[in-house]
Order: sequence, then structure tokens, then C-alpha cells
Amino acid sequence: MQDLDEFTVTDAALAQMEATASPRLKQIMDAAVRHLHAFARDVDLTPEEWLQGIQFLTAVGQACTPIRQEFILLSDVLGLSAVVNALHDRKARELGSQSSLLGPFYREGAPALPLGAQIVHNPTAPEIVLYGTVTDNAGTPVPNALIQVWQTSERGLYDLQEGHGDVMDMRGNFRTGADGKFHFRTVRPLGYSIPMDGPVGALVHRQNRHGMRPSHIHCLISANGYRELVTALYFADDPNIGSDTVFGVSQSLVVQAADDPASPLPGLQAVRYDFRLAHAAPGETGRVGADPSKLAKAAE
Ligand code: BEZ
Ligand code: FE
Repeated sequence: MQDLDEFTVTDAALAQMEATASPRLKQIMDAAVRHLHAFARDVDLTPEEWLQGIQFLTAVGQACTPIRQEFILLSDVLGLSAVVNALHDRKARELGSQSSLLGPFYREGAPALPLGAQIVHNPTAPEIVLYGTVTDNAGTPVPNALIQVWQTSERGLYDLQEGHGDVMDMRGNFRTGADGKFHFRTVRPLGYSIPMDGPVGALVHRQNRHGMRPSHIHCLISANGYRELVTALYFADDPNIGSDTVFGVSQSLVVQAADDPASPLPGLQAVRYDFRLAHAAPGETGRVGADPSKLAKAAE
């Protein structure tokens, strides 16, 4: 029998896991064990700190409900979700628009609206128009693509938070025309704080971070034969554009509203964005990010 110390226990654990049937599970768990052990040695983790970590993760689990996924929020504020998104984009067989976080406020079954419709029920801020074309990687328009959009109000709240969550507002589903074009009206959303009333928020506070996301409009675009694109457009002049708490902003997703005579609604300030979809590889499925309500159902 081998005497184990803080180094040799790593090899012993790897040896016990050697017979794992699934090669991918083995690869993931081997790496997790190696990195976790290295992390504990690196910070010289004490028993008290180990227990604090366990208590923190327990609280994260207890904060989860069918509509709140505190573990995804933890992944978001640690930048892990952004890493997974970037890895996913890199695996595409051709370049498409960059992805961004799905976030917890996506809802299936938003109203199907005609092109040009206003997605905000009672706008109290100036209307803007978002327009563009959905194309493939070669620039060929993609007709009949489904564009699902959702955003906060001009007050920085999603419909689920504005007190009338049962009514879908500030969201809509559009189809591109035969020319791949789309446009809809909205108002400029306000940036907002991620949910800070749970254990993840407490951690963010202790790290002296502001907890804010810059103003953005979420877009989920899908069409037969293409990789689903989960992304968001971020407004350049938001004060937190360079310090998103969940690391969702990429330069290629930053936009500005401006006067635009080429817009389909030239009287309104416009944001133009052309989305590029990558063809799906055979059998490719999977979304970047997970709808929390789906996770709850899966766990039942
Ligand atoms: C969102 O953009 O909706 C979001 C993303 C991550 C955490 C919280 C909110
Ligand atoms: Fe959001």
C-alpha cells in the first residue's frame, strides 16, 4: 500500500477512475481532478476554507428554483460561460456571427410579429429600429430564418421583473423575408444588474464588482441547416460596456443607434446589424447556454 501525500493522492485518484467506460467522461473527470488538486495545493487550501467553499456551493444549489439557476449565474460571473461560448464558436465548421450569453430571461413562445412591429407594449422612450440581413457565411441571404429577440425596458427590467410577468413584453419572434432581411421597432433598453440577492451576488459584492450588464438586445437566430446563433447586441455608449459582469461583450457585437437614411424606417434612430449563420455540421445540435426552466424540467 502506498503512503499518500498531497501530490501522490492525485495519481491514486486518477488510477481509481481508470476504468471509466465513457472516454469523454474519463477525460473530463481526469482533468477536473488534476486541476482541483493543483488548485488546492496552489492556494494551500485550509480545512476551514474548504468547508466555506462547500457551504457556498450548497447555498448556490439551494438558491436554484425552476426559474432561477444560480449555478449558471456563478458560471457567468466567473467567466466560465464566456469560455464555453468561445470554444463553441471555434468549433463551427465556418465562421458565423459571434455568440453571447443566453441569460436567464429567455422565454419560449414569445409572440410571432410581422416585420416592422414594435416589441414594447407601452414605449415611454423614443422608438428605435433594429434592422439587417441574415446571411450564410458566403453572404447569401437566409430567407424565413426565425429571429427571437428579448430585452429590458427603458427602465432596465425584463417583463418577468416589471410586475406583469405573465404578459410577454419587450420580446418578439420575427421571420426574415425572401431577401433575408428583417426589421422591428423597440426602445433602447437600459443596462441592469444581474440578480444580486443570492450567494453569487454576495460573492460579487465581496469582490467589489458592480454587478451590472451593459444595455443589450438578445437575439436567438435559427434556420434549417444552420447552427443556432445565440447572441446579443451591446450599445457602445453604455458606461459599463467595458466591464460586463458576465463577460458577454465582444467588439463585433457592439452597436450604436444613429440616423440612417438607408433604414426601412428612416425617421427613427437605427441600429443595423447583419447576422451571419454558419452551416451546421451533420448531426450538429446544441445551444450555447441553457434555458433555466428546461433544466428544472430535466431534473424532475
Ligand atoms: C442576461 O443578459 O439576461 C443575463 C445574462 C447572465 C446573467 C444574468 C443576466
Ligand atoms: Fe440580458
